Amino acid sequence: MNTKIHHIVLYLGIILTLSGHIDHKKYPAVAIHNYDTIDKKVDSLINLMTLEEKVGQMNLYNGFWDVTGPAPKEGSAKTKYDHLRKGWVGGMLNVRGVENVRKLQKIAVEETRLGIPLIIGFDVIHGYKTISPIPLAEAASWDLKAIEKSARNAASEASAAGINWTFAPMVDISREPRWGRVMEGAGEDPYLGSKIAKARVHGFQGDDLKKKNTIAACAKHFAAYGFTEAGREYNTVDIGTSTLFNTILPPFKAASESGVKTFMNSFNDLNGIPVSASKYLQRDILKTKWGFEGFVVSDWASLKEIINWGHAKNKKEAAKIASSAGSDMDMEGSVYIQELVNLVKESVIEEHIINDAAKRILKVKFELGLFDDPYKYCNTKNEKEIIGRQTHLDDALDMAKKSIVLLKNETNILPLKKEGQKIALIGPLAAEKNSPLGSWRTASDDNTAVSVLEGMNAYSGNAVHYSKGMDLIIGETSFIKEVKINTTNRDGIKEAIETAKNVDVVVMVLGEHGFQSGESRSRTHLDLPGLQQELLEAVYKVNKNIVLVLNNGRPLAIEWASQNIPSIVVGWQLGSQTGNAIAQVLYGDYNPSGKLPMTFPRNVGQIPIYYNHKNTGRPKNTENNVFWSHYIDQDNSPLYPFGFGLSYTKFIYKNLTIEDSNFSINDTVKVSVEISNIGDYDGKEVVQLYIRDLVGSVVRPVRELKGFELVMLNKGETKIVEFLLTKEELGFYDNNGDFIIEAGDFEVYVGGDSDAKLKNQFNLK
Ligand code: NOJ
Repeated sequence: MNTKIHHIVLYLGIILTLSGHIDHKKYPAVAIHNYDTIDKKVDSLINLMTLEEKVGQMNLYNGFWDVTGPAPKEGSAKTKYDHLRKGWVGGMLNVRGVENVRKLQKIAVEETRLGIPLIIGFDVIHGYKTISPIPLAEAASWDLKAIEKSARNAASEASAAGINWTFAPMVDISREPRWGRVMEGAGEDPYLGSKIAKARVHGFQGDDLKKKNTIAACAKHFAAYGFTEAGREYNTVDIGTSTLFNTILPPFKAASESGVKTFMNSFNDLNGIPVSASKYLQRDILKTKWGFEGFVVSDWASLKEIINWGHAKNKKEAAKIASSAGSDMDMEGSVYIQELVNLVKESVIEEHIINDAAKRILKVKFELGLFDDPYKYCNTKNEKEIIGRQTHLDDALDMAKKSIVLLKNETNILPLKKEGQKIALIGPLAAEKNSPLGSWRTASDDNTAVSVLEGMNAYSGNAVHYSKGMDLIIGETSFIKEVKINTTNRDGIKEAIETAKNVDVVVMVLGEHGFQSGESRSRTHLDLPGLQQELLEAVYKVNKNIVLVLNNGRPLAIEWASQNIPSIVVGWQLGSQTGNAIAQVLYGDYNPSGKLPMTFPRNVGQIPIYYNHKNTGRPKNTENNVFWSHYIDQDNSPLYPFGFGLSYTKFIYKNLTIEDSNFSINDTVKVSVEISNIGDYDGKEVVQLYIRDLVGSVVRPVRELKGFELVMLNKGETKIVEFLLTKEELGFYDNNGDFIIEAGDFEVYVGGDSDAKLKNQFNLK
């Protein structure tokens, strides 16, 4: 449409609205559908909006009831309803279920002046009703297709429940197992984290956001939340530019490049600036350097928290700083809705800041197709049919099996025999049906996971000898309550010992409850909580044939177990299908292939411990004295390194070949390796490639993951795996945030974990 007609349509729209001669519910349609691009539609709509309505788009309210509660009640949330009817609300979170969403959408579309639909957000983190493994566990699969599918299924279920926007994926890199939120991310590595970020964004958003089963994703928490000091939740972050650009930002950049529609900023400060007030992160890097065209939502009330940080003296100042910095939408803080209109009227901030934010939000609503059909996610038939589908449960089982990591199998107790073996199952988490759902399983029903006991009984014809051993938790626990751990009651230990005495193998399910990780679940101890270590050692005294199945939302420090227990399996919180997945792996119907996405420390004192550290000026004790970078009471090495995980079979690597030894900066370096399965089972292996850039203008880590491939090898089979290294893999960010590539020598390591020994090298001219 040419500009002249555009103006006529606009003018007509304004006249008709002002004179009240138009059916409001169709009004945006009159003005906007005449334009051929979303940008023009957004421009035309913004021109029709009052300042208050534009600020309204920047306001995200929580549902009118408790997070987990039922339908909205008028009265109890009168102000929010009033605001909604005035067009002062852009979106809602924690409203779910077709009827609930429809009710609110109807108010927005039919009762407000312009009828702009709401965006409906929810924390769809690892499934909606059908729960997949926690994201950290999924990352352990290194299986990008499975991870994408898990997000796809979550989007299908959520969209069928009326939701059109998820606050996921969390792409925060973290080296801090004390921080409870590592369960929500992809671990410590920016390369793996970037690939997983892409897979998840694509899973949620699909190829076409206009479809009814795709939803907008949100890369969070921008940025550096995973580096919260000492792992304490909501704490300060003070880090340098090299870590920011090379470690923290890459997965966010990958998400942006994958077309993620929204970003969420984080609760922390970054070097003294609360990040929701950071122009540097939000405008300079995200919106300008990366050209991100979606919108940035604050975290829950984080704009108000700028005051607590001591960076603004009141809400008015917080609103000014945050909006100028590029925080577009205020989640449940009421800072924007209360302050922004006056700030513009008083000429403290310019209206173009409001226009920019409102346009970004409207654009996403257009992209979602909400203007074509605001009720496109509100179909009760879909709600009934799609949520909890058998195929989703099957996929959740597949994902759960792929997420399991075998840490130790010294005496080959695993796989268990399906017949002729007496097996005991012991531990407070063995019969748990709630804990395995993990944190952030907000739409699932409590106690719906298949427990390990149920899973193993299905295999053994109920022949497993079960003993709880003790309670892990005292009293009720939930998403919003602190977890209280049993530290005194040892009543069940005796019975557990008796049970263990008379069997061939003892499977012990120990570790963290699902609500011991997640938001605001930082820990200073990373051993087995409560009295579980005591239980483990007591059982060990009477039967050493133990398979320890860990339940964990983070790396745990299990040094005693790793020295004494012959078989250890990392079982995370695996979601709805937990018990079936564990049983299939323990009984050998599935050969484990997971690899740790985060280093397991020997003890808390080693933290932060991560594989891609720097060499330091004193890496080794070359003379026989103490003056080198180490501890006097503990090794530098981790208990289990990043990328580590065993299989029931055995793989060997040979012939690490680099096509040439000299390359120029624009060349592609071709690397290949031979891998053979020389064990007794078919199996999958994650072949990992690491580089070391030996000399850099900014010091480079001792190893950096730059390629991986999941390879299936039948017993006796050999395959050649190839990797291509381009500028993207060989370059890095300097301290100005510019991506550079430098000539010099590089080492290449390939193997089954970050400690891979097979090595070659090349030179870049
Ligand atoms: C706070 C969390 O930090 C964030 O990740 C989440 O999306 C919001 N609350 C909304 O529930």
